[in-house]
Amino acid sequence: MQNPKRYTITAALPYTNGPVHIGHLAGVYVPADIYARYLRLNNKDVAFVCGSDEHGVPITLKAKAEGVSPQAVVDKYHEIIKSSFAAFGISFDNYSRTSARVHHETASAFFKDLYDHGKFIEETAAQLYDEEANQFLADRFVVGTCPKCGNEESYGDQCENCGTSHNAQDLINPRSVITGNVPSLKETKHWYLPLDQYESWLNDWILKGHKNDWKANVLGQVKSWIDDGLKPRAVTRDLDWGIPVPVEGGEGKVLYVWFDAPIGYISSTKEWAERVGKDWEPYWKDKETSLIHFIGKDNIVFHCIIFPAMLKAQGSYILPENVPANEFLNLEGNKISTSKNWAVWLHEYLIDFPDKQDVLRYVLTANAPETKDNDFTWKDFQARNNNELVAIFGNFINRVIVLTNKYYDGQVPEAKDLTAVDEQTLEQLAAFPDIISKSIERFRFREALSELINLARLGNKYLADEEPWKQIKTNPKRVETIMNIALQIAAGLSVLCEPFLPFTSKRLKGMLDLKDSDTLTWETVTDGRTLLKAGHKINKPELLFAKIEDKEIQVQIDKLEASKKQVEKQPLEPQKQTIEFDDFSKLDIRVGTILEAEKIPKTKKLLKLKVDVGIDVRTIVSGIAESFEAKDIIGQKVTVLVNLAPRKLRGVESQGMILMSDTPDGKLSFIEPDKDTVENGEKVS
Ligand code: 2FM
Ligand code: ZN
Repeated sequence: MQNPKRYTITAALPYTNGPVHIGHLAGVYVPADIYARYLRLNNKDVAFVCGSDEHGVPITLKAKAEGVSPQAVVDKYHEIIKSSFAAFGISFDNYSRTSARVHHETASAFFKDLYDHGKFIEETAAQLYDEEANQFLADRFVVGTCPKCGNEESYGDQCENCGTSHNAQDLINPRSVITGNVPSLKETKHWYLPLDQYESWLNDWILKGHKNDWKANVLGQVKSWIDDGLKPRAVTRDLDWGIPVPVEGGEGKVLYVWFDAPIGYISSTKEWAERVGKDWEPYWKDKETSLIHFIGKDNIVFHCIIFPAMLKAQGSYILPENVPANEFLNLEGNKISTSKNWAVWLHEYLIDFPDKQDVLRYVLTANAPETKDNDFTWKDFQARNNNELVAIFGNFINRVIVLTNKYYDGQVPEAKDLTAVDEQTLEQLAAFPDIISKSIERFRFREALSELINLARLGNKYLADEEPWKQIKTNPKRVETIMNIALQIAAGLSVLCEPFLPFTSKRLKGMLDLKDSDTLTWETVTDGRTLLKAGHKINKPELLFAKIEDKEIQVQIDKLEASKKQVEKQPLEPQKQTIEFDDFSKLDIRVGTILEAEKIPKTKKLLKLKVDVGIDVRTIVSGIAESFEAKDIIGQKVTVLVNLAPRKLRGVESQGMILMSDTPDGKLSFIEPDKDTVENGEKVS
């Protein structure tokens, strides 16, 4: 959209079942904040909204695990998340929560409106039910094997391995997360959004209409969804935690969390508008508003298919102009995991590095998972701080401020008789706002940040080439010009770094004595000759960035390892329900030998094995590829459950299951007889 009148920027509402970690920051909140700050610096009308996502199964599960109410869980984490975002400089115009009255009312009215206009299908169907817990099992209350990739730990609503979103009933071998039981089926009524009816519209709007401006990863996921064929999606649940279904027959049911959460963006905008005396509606209904959703890749389907279908069904809302979803950030080579405590938590980082918000913002942007998953390491954090922020940015600023104080008692000298190099340097400075804008407007924040550092490099090179410290004795007039130009670059940096490094921008403006009333905007840097006028007095130097020593980094690495070990030492899973001997005797477990092994293409975990189990040689698909190389396990003795009903995984029929045990390092280990003489086909009992 050319020159929108205003922008509504949303950042995924974080689940309130735990604090925020660096993966969330890199994927969603830092890029969203850069974008919002950039637009404001360009005098755009911006509503940047977010809030806590307080419904859904993860919160109920956390409450069960901690033996407290879901409300207590969300109250605790809402405060932690909200205050750590604020301390980290995420400049939301409003941070709300989905337990807020305005949200309950907005989401309820939205549902009712679609219901009244016949936009839902009402259907009674059999759903998974846990008899012991006396509860229907939807979403994260149930795990099982993903029908698409074979991941055995897929959730009922989404597989974290392949990203597919499905219905709980689609899982193979489902089991209840509450009791471990195999669920039964029980009839229940729900309301479904018929996504199939929106398929061709979605295809035209996204895959045709946005094929050139949306990110490839987003288009790819949308295409794969549409190619698989969209199905009606239940938007209500049999739960007692959430927003009650506001229509007849909805008693005891709540809205599906993914129905209510995105409406949270609208509620948060309403809350903000009310507070600042504005009208919320143009931010969601005027076609000249650009709506941008910042999310992680696991949220693509909800923001590109389900929520747009809801908005379209309602009819009076605008649709997103772009959904710049990021991939995932790993940590020290491993997936960030809340349950394994493998994470750098924002609120803890802020305690350990109270004045280094910008260092983390910098590293997460420089290494942002924009087109592929990336890795955060503490060593890289240290190196980027020491070699880029300190050695390039900080070094330039320090030289400029120290020399201006030393030579001119802090007064900006006049620039006269500019040389070709001076002119060229000023022209280069003037080009930076545009260069950085282009990258930001295409959601390429890494590229934008590297251009910012190039501006600091330009300053360093200019000083190194012109050597004011050498010329001060022989040619003091020339040094006045050099320092004036270097000061203009410093002032330009103070403005252009603000979206990325807001704390640094403030400190630097303080050193340069640039007040808010000086109203330096992005645009003013394009005429970079008089950002600081001759005669203006700057302040004394302060350290902009400090070197980070090895020992500080070691503390963080040790902390990470220690917290992981702590989790690993936790008690073993409780014993499952007692079974009768007859149940056990139905299992036919035999000794076997792996004869052949090959990786199933496009899967992470699956190996296709040929196993001699004495009775015959059969094909077994086993999810062990993350623990073993195919070539290393030929000849391996194994124990095999041979009478498990055959099932197809990735098109290959598996005729049994290899028994494995977990090891403390998170890998799998074979269960093998302790003597080589045990023959294939011998029974294990
Ligand atoms: O994935 C998540 O953390 C979800 N809570 C995101 C919700 S975004 C939205 F639509 F509100
Ligand atoms: Zn999967």
